[in-house]
Amino acid sequence: MIGNIKDIRETDVKGKNVLLRCDLDVPLKEEGDKAVIADDTRLKSWLPTLEYLLSNQANLTIVGHLGRPNGRMENFSLRPVADWLASQLELHNEITPFSKNGFDGWKVEKNVFLLENLRFYKEEEENDKTFAEKLSKGCDLYVNDAFAVSHRNDASVVAITKFLPHFAGIRLQEEIKNLSAVITNPKRPLVVVIGGAKIETKLPMVEKMHKLADYVLVGGEIAEQDQVLMKVAHEKTEGVKSELLIGELLSNRKDITEDTIEKFLQTIYQAQTIVWNGPMGLFEEGFEKGTKDIAEGISKTSAFTVAGGGDTISFLKEHQILHKFAFVSMGGGAMLNFLAGENLPGLEALVD
Ligand code: 3PG
Repeated sequence: MIGNIKDIRETDVKGKNVLLRCDLDVPLKEEGDKAVIADDTRLKSWLPTLEYLLSNQANLTIVGHLGRPNGRMENFSLRPVADWLASQLELHNEITPFSKNGFDGWKVEKNVFLLENLRFYKEEEENDKTFAEKLSKGCDLYVNDAFAVSHRNDASVVAITKFLPHFAGIRLQEEIKNLSAVITNPKRPLVVVIGGAKIETKLPMVEKMHKLADYVLVGGEIAEQDQVLMKVAHEKTEGVKSELLIGELLSNRKDITEDTIEKFLQTIYQAQTIVWNGPMGLFEEGFEKGTKDIAEGISKTSAFTVAGGGDTISFLKEHQILHKFAFVSMGGGAMLNFLAGENLPGLEALVD
């Protein structure tokens, strides 16, 4: 039990049909004519829950989303995740297509099924109750092990809990425990670094973090929103104690400038706690200097360091810096929301 959320290990799962919501939102890359997983850190995060359930003889239907497709788009298919899962379970048989309650997917093992990307159905992001009920058919209980999507009001995260007894997976509990420790009396100065491209998710977070941190450093695509950010910086909101540093971008807008890197590093070197989400530039197009210098700078400090989010994780892993962080959260937006003290709909829904 964590707070009022039940731990899946507190109930008998033997012979039960479990609907397992996982973080399946991973970066893909082309290999020949095939899409393969570029970084499987998020997938590995829920393996302890999967192993626990399988060793206790549960039957699994794994569900999740990949990216932000607009309807059914084959390049957002979870087929590469089905292949990955088969290799993790050391299966040598071909995985086979399967369908249940109108959902298609794959049979990976006799008691392990994976459903196709739930965001192929608009009802998922509408938190549609009928959709959630259909998803629950034939299942006995629901486990959320997808912290990274717990800030979304999606059917497989929220509405589903109306139809099945619900529990937290092992990873979800670890996220709650570690991130709670960051907000309970953090060592200061507390520096939050926010970058990346999901403007509508991140902008409100800059404002919220402004209230928690001593310094908020903003780079990446959201630094382009300087008008909005300046407004946040100058608003004398009650309780705001931090300084907001808005990064300057190169003329091509693809990375932060050398001056910004230097200014950010000066602040980072004073920090006792550092939280980082989102790259400083378009590293996937080769504009990686800002992100790399900031990552290396953070990793050299003796501060308590936390990084989170799909792109951030995959960058740190590629540059062998990931292990230098004290805690790596699978969530980007979810981590920032949690640290800002917001109620996450997916966690609220698990509370009885
Ligand atoms: C993430 O990558 O942060 C999660 O998978 C949530 O994705 P979303 O921002 O598209 O809802």
